[in-house]
Amino acid sequence: MSHVENRMRRADHFKLGTFSTNCSGGMSVTKIPERWDASWDSNLAVARLLDDAGIDFMLPIARWIGYGGETNFHGHVLETMTWAAGLLALTKRISVIATIHTSANHPAVVAKQIATIDAIGQGRAGLNIVAGWNKPEYEAMGHTLPDDHETRYAYAQEWFDIIQSLWERKGSFDMKTPHFDLKGIEAEPKPVNGRPPILNAAGSELGREFATRNADFLFTSVIDFDRSREEIAELKAQAAAKGRHVDVLTFSHVVCRQTEQEAKDYLQYFAKDNADWVAVDNLVRLQIAHAQSFPHDLLMLIRDRFAMGHGGVPLIGTPEQVADGICALHAIGLGGTTLSFVDYTKEFPYFRDNVLPILEARGIRQPN
Ligand SMILES: Cc1cc2nc3c(=O)[nH]c(=O)nc-3n(C[C@H](O)[C@H](O)[C@H](O)COP(=O)(O)O)c2cc1C
Repeated sequence: MSHVENRMRRADHFKLGTFSTNCSGGMSVTKIPERWDASWDSNLAVARLLDDAGIDFMLPIARWIGYGGETNFHGHVLETMTWAAGLLALTKRISVIATIHTSANHPAVVAKQIATIDAIGQGRAGLNIVAGWNKPEYEAMGHTLPDDHETRYAYAQEWFDIIQSLWERKGSFDMKTPHFDLKGIEAEPKPVNGRPPILNAAGSELGREFATRNADFLFTSVIDFDRSREEIAELKAQAAAKGRHVDVLTFSHVVCRQTEQEAKDYLQYFAKDNADWVAVDNLVRLQIAHAQSFPHDLLMLIRDRFAMGHGGVPLIGTPEQVADGICALHAIGLGGTTLSFVDYTKEFPYFRDNVLPILEARGIRQPN
């Protein structure tokens, strides 16, 4: 079968993608009327812009219920596997990744879905694994969230072992694990070009161990750059000890304008004066209760950052300042970052025209 390059596999290239275009509000917990609507039309419009500009990937958030507040932040969400299928069919070069909850999706179904969307995209699909944390969401699905990370990640391991076996093994086979007893299972087609890029979104120690065993990328938060620099080096060493290579990605929010003051004024408008603080506090409270995705000692310090970009790294200012921020992420050892904008389609072209050329000139990204 013919295939095109999966841009997640490019070496020596600081990868840029978008995060959360499939969710209402995107990454910004704001009440402004022009906040991101996450409609299919908006997603397709931004995908075409990104694809033409040589952006590497699009990553969605898997979410089943909103966070409340006046806007019910993330109350309108396009399901990520079908979203990825549509986008892969309608783009040419960008990698599109599905974000999948282990508990809500049978692994044999996911193995086949990923192989199918990979065929649609001629090898441009990817899988982002989420092991679970959002208790009300589990309850909404009629599931019980295990309290401890050990149980969650042990289940995720079984789940992913089944997927990998289905991608690797020919013919039919039995597979018995503590939670699954599969008899005469088989899966054709396989993904187009071997195992697609695997991301694991996590912050805890066990999440990192899972990533170093299984993933190509750990997707995690960065708040304190010095702490992250050390953690990235440790994670890479941990992976190398297992004979594996794992890159680390983070997420950032961009407000890029001609002057620093314009960028700051816009930040004040959407993320301070008009933040949906009820939804922000629900989000932070749930993070503290059930996840270690953000270090808890830093979490309360960054309430403002949650309003801006769901706790992402702020890239606020002129094109030069935004490029400096991205280069600083590169310098601590990250392999890439997602970007979010309040209005992805409206704001991305300015970033494309003014920030991408700086990053290429500084040698951290290959030109198109
Ligand atoms: C960058 C990042 C992205 C995530 N994306 C999602 C998501 O789309 N949906 C979801 O339910 N959980 C998401 N999570 C939650 C994690 O997948 C994980 O289940 C949760 O963080 C609990 O594990 P941890 O304590 O190891 O981080 C994300 C976490 C991080 C750090």
